[in-house]
Amino acid sequence: MRRPLIIAPSILSADFADFGREIEAVEAQGADWVHVDVMDGHFVPNLTFGPPAVAAFRKHVTTVMDVHLMIAPVDPYIEAYAEAGADVITAHVEAGPHSHRTLQAIRATGKKAGIALNPGTPAEAVKPLLDLADLVCVMTVNPGFGGQRFLDMTDKIRALRAMIGDRPVQIEIDGGVTPETAPLVVAAGADVLVAGSAVFKGGSVQNPAPYGANIRAIRDSVLQARA
Ligand code: DX5
Ligand code: ZN
Repeated sequence: MRRPLIIAPSILSADFADFGREIEAVEAQGADWVHVDVMDGHFVPNLTFGPPAVAAFRKHVTTVMDVHLMIAPVDPYIEAYAEAGADVITAHVEAGPHSHRTLQAIRATGKKAGIALNPGTPAEAVKPLLDLADLVCVMTVNPGFGGQRFLDMTDKIRALRAMIGDRPVQIEIDGGVTPETAPLVVAAGADVLVAGSAVFKGGSVQNPAPYGANIRAIRDSVLQARA
């Protein structure tokens, strides 16, 4: 069975002074989802977007807004990001001792629930959570920054795919996705590819065609590897 491939550009690599037009440009150029990286300067060594910023992005998103919470604690902020208009809310399994409760809280908002694993966290950490999750995000960099080198987590992706079985759970890959690394992770079982620097490089709101070419290059690399 072939699952649809979803490309989710991360606006962490967009022009921070022009998010509305960047989102519109990358969607017009073929993005399937828009990935929003929320960082707290505590769980990860960087700071990004509070709920009001995410609510402002929402007005420009016509696809799916995929909100990746790299924050701890996470539970006190779930409702605020749901109200900001997230479609998918992903929390880290390392963010606290109660990931089960976190996923329940996300589902209670009516949003899709994701659980993310840092590179040092084994697949088994999310095994008891799979019935509560719509998505598992495998980090292929240590979270905090765009443009880092891809870490090979293909064994973990394969293990998760087997663990998920026939549950309707998507596997998302986040970090260092390029036309070179995309076929490896898709062959291992990934459905959703987050890509920041590989999508936004070379383009701009004034010259968005490179965004489209970059998205197609990732998609085509996967299709060619499958052929
Ligand atoms: C990293 C973020 C990623 C990041 C990916 O902490 O979660 O979403 O933006 O950026 P690239 O694709 O440049 O590795
Ligand atoms: Zn992310």
